[in-house]
Amino acid sequence: MVVASARANIALVKYWGKRAKALNLPAAGSLSLTLADLKTQTEVRLRSEGEDTLLLDGKLASHKATARVSQFLDLVRSISNSSARADVISENAFPTGAGLASSASAFAALAKAATTAYGLKLSDRELSVLARQGSGSAARSIFGGLVRMYAGQQADGQDAYAEPVLGAQIELSAAVAVVDKGEKLVGSTEGMEHTRLTSPYHQAWLHQVDKDLVTCTQALKSGDFDELALVVEGSCLAMHADAMAARPGVIYFCGATLWAMEQVRKLRKEGVPICFTVDAGPHLVAFTPPDYVQSVATRLQGHPDITRVITSEAGEGAKIELSSSP
Ligand code: DP6
Repeated sequence: MVVASARANIALVKYWGKRAKALNLPAAGSLSLTLADLKTQTEVRLRSEGEDTLLLDGKLASHKATARVSQFLDLVRSISNSSARADVISENAFPTGAGLASSASAFAALAKAATTAYGLKLSDRELSVLARQGSGSAARSIFGGLVRMYAGQQADGQDAYAEPVLGAQIELSAAVAVVDKGEKLVGSTEGMEHTRLTSPYHQAWLHQVDKDLVTCTQALKSGDFDELALVVEGSCLAMHADAMAARPGVIYFCGATLWAMEQVRKLRKEGVPICFTVDAGPHLVAFTPPDYVQSVATRLQGHPDITRVITSEAGEGAKIELSSSP
């Protein structure tokens, strides 16, 4: 039995669109921060026969979720030449399926736990390539702190992996304003594919990502928070503009999201180094240095649809918590 943990990450420069669906290859790179408190813990136990099972937050998972995990385990089985089935027990320390990047921590933790359980010894880069095939953003959660994902060019996806960004002069924490809208309506996989196929802005979006990656890395390394805020908010809004321009348009924002954006911009005017981003859901994530994160959280609590604000420092990459013979 093996238990591994991984933490969700939130992108500063967004991933939105694939270059190939089968191997889940992103059309552009991205850059993220792994968060300590958005943690998934996953246990994998092998069995000689039967079917794979998935227990998610104490409940038997849906057929769809189990099939996605089973398909991922097939990859691990093919690398390890094993036919063993697995019982997977996964616990999230945050709401699943609500745009809080649960697939990132889920597939990073599963990649780590399953490869260990099946007796494989993969490098972090190999794990990143594998986790990507479960979910694009999961490739980034193999690593802690600031992480850069590469789109790569190879058809086999071996050059589409993530690695840590070193030498940043800005330390970031995050305040996640959780907006009470339940499960998201359009998942990121579906939303980005629909956008790729129908949005007239999609090529412009992809073109911009490459420039934003350069600017974001420079801003982090030179410690220029104003430049960082411009590129982070710009990447978020451009991604959402791309999605909104799809036919029919995909809208993830709701009233509380816009309200929270306004608070972040007011705080910045007041002198707080802060910027926002929003994933494929209504929640807003504010990035700010650790010293400011509590006061930012208090400010973001002031809307009736914001049920709670989760604060977190940067977190570590995927790791083994426990490994024992059956
Ligand atoms: C908006 O990694 O969830 O959070 O590869 O289809 O599983 P799949 O998509 P996923 O997409 C994340 C999209 C995003 C932006 C980001 O995290 O970069």
